Amino acid sequence: MSIGDRSIVIHADRLLTPDGIPPFRGTEMRKVNEAFDVDIVVENGIIEDIRRHKDAHISAKLVTPGLFDVHTHIPFIGSRSKEFIMRAQGKKYVEILQSGGGIHHTTELVRNATEDELFRYSREWIKKFLSHGIVGLECKSGYGLDVKNELKQLRVIKRLHKSFPLKISSTFLGLHARPKDKTIDEYLDELKETLPVIKNENLAQFVDAFCDKGAYEPDEIEEFMVYAKSLGFDLRLHADEIENVGATRLGIKLGARSVDHVLKIDTSDISVLSRSSTMVTLMPNTSFYLGEGFAPARELIDSGVAIALGSDFNPGSAPIYQPGFVMHLAIKFLKMEPEEILIAYTSNGAYLLGLNSGIIVPKFSADLILWKTSEFIDIPYMFQENFVDHVLIDGRIVA
Ligand code: NIG
Ligand code: FE
Repeated sequence: MSIGDRSIVIHADRLLTPDGIPPFRGTEMRKVNEAFDVDIVVENGIIEDIRRHKDAHISAKLVTPGLFDVHTHIPFIGSRSKEFIMRAQGKKYVEILQSGGGIHHTTELVRNATEDELFRYSREWIKKFLSHGIVGLECKSGYGLDVKNELKQLRVIKRLHKSFPLKISSTFLGLHARPKDKTIDEYLDELKETLPVIKNENLAQFVDAFCDKGAYEPDEIEEFMVYAKSLGFDLRLHADEIENVGATRLGIKLGARSVDHVLKIDTSDISVLSRSSTMVTLMPNTSFYLGEGFAPARELIDSGVAIALGSDFNPGSAPIYQPGFVMHLAIKFLKMEPEEILIAYTSNGAYLLGLNSGIIVPKFSADLILWKTSEFIDIPYMFQENFVDHVLIDGRIVA
């Protein structure tokens, strides 16, 4: 038996996988299937069979689907450590943003960086994500705040996508902060002219906006988002993180694939969400980092909403990327069950990014993690430890 190109047999002492058809909503988010002493047969990067153990090329105590971090702010460059101290002394995230710091500080650094510098800085972070079992990652613009630099960020994402086996999805977040040097209308006009370019050059799958207090109000961005959708972009929103401005409602109305953060939503928002196909992406590490409270995850899941988890990795509100830590916070503060965090990080994440992955059943991509522990709960329990033994993407051992 020899290992072919993207063909391999993996023995799992224990295998855990979501059980069913994604996305998993509400109580379905606990449907995890368990099998012992099985072989996963992979041909040409696709799972062909799960059979009783006979012979294998490689073996692990535990095999799960690979993890998907569906919300990061890569590419960026530089530090915002001064804000960390300012917030510890009582300044709020929005105050720092409105006084010209925060996102604007990183924007300045990104504008001054070359495409190559941005690429090289981001590449080092992505290697770390991969070493922690992340097989798919969403990256976005939003630190250019002008056409030239937003496009520069999107080109860096494309280059990252080409140079890593990771499945990288790209989002255009031109509406990340209010520009300092022009009116909103001028900026919206520029961005509208740019959307067809982004589409033609295949530079983004999603269009996103920071719809919140201190950023953009729903009525300022609705028309723009409708236009983006008409061009074929999938939509998502940074919604109601700081204040409930009606961003979640707008996301649902627009048919967004996800509304993200949603710390400040109320029970009627949750009820509308539960009747929609819009998913919710939660990032408890941002809550932890800003000390601003947590999203009502339990109510969302118990109402039947589909949840994905992400890191929000960025230099301001979440310089944290380890999935084990995000999972730890999800268990402790979002009161999510271990099965729910596994599903949120695998099949629901893959589904949100439109990928045929996140489940270990025939016909799905062989994006797998071989763990050094047999207990999935060890990953959030001892979050500083990296339990990843091997990572496979499309059947190839990549870490
Ligand atoms: O998701 N909320 C807006 N945007 C980011 C923060 C980006 C930044 O502060 O640089 C977020 O938390
Ligand atoms: Fe974000």
